[in-house]
Amino acid sequence: MQFFLDTANLDQIREVKELGLLDGVTTNPTLMSREGGDWREQAALICELVDGPVSLEVIGTTREEMIKEAKDLVSFGDNVVVKIPMIAEGLKALRELTERGIKTNVTLVFSPAQALLAGKLGATYVSPFVGRLDGLSHSGMEGVDQMRTIFDNYAFETKILVASVRHPMHVLESGLIGADVITLPYATIMQLMQHPLTDKGLAAFLADWEAFQEGK
Ligand code: E4P
Repeated sequence: MQFFLDTANLDQIREVKELGLLDGVTTNPTLMSREGGDWREQAALICELVDGPVSLEVIGTTREEMIKEAKDLVSFGDNVVVKIPMIAEGLKALRELTERGIKTNVTLVFSPAQALLAGKLGATYVSPFVGRLDGLSHSGMEGVDQMRTIFDNYAFETKILVASVRHPMHVLESGLIGADVITLPYATIMQLMQHPLTDKGLAAFLADWEAFQEGK
């Protein structure tokens, strides 16, 4: 399973890259706006820093606007993936972008039926938002499981990119289902490596070693 970082923050990207866990980055207008400053400069820096796909989202809501923006966004780097919302106009844009060989990520996906449409039209990635569904008492991961079945049934090449991740259980379940990619907030990546028994075990090893050295 590939790990993308769900952020537009350069320090977070650098740190996860240093951990060796960075396969790509996803951004969205909210994440970009949190960083402030010139978004174009920020997008260019992210694309340069990341050795992997970087999703940059369109703002337009018509096919024409999305295509125009997509042409601009791909100029930021060879690794740009254009993020398109799951709306009718988005699907029209998706078809055209796929034909032009531009990589796409269909975002704001909340049902397996929506994912089926993205897969059928040849999206590179489809992003089911599991945390937002969980927040409404609908199982986000159950939907991802159904998407996996549908995509396997038809040998779709579209990758399932689990998004809106809230905690390590989403990561575990994504792995069990066989999601292709998961995009994680920085805090969740850091949580993944933590276990109280690891800390306790390490403290005991070090204390025993120190006692042994002192007893020599
Ligand atoms: C995905 O690409 C989105 O950027 C992101 O996962 C949205 O998640 P949120 O529900 O935390 O905003």
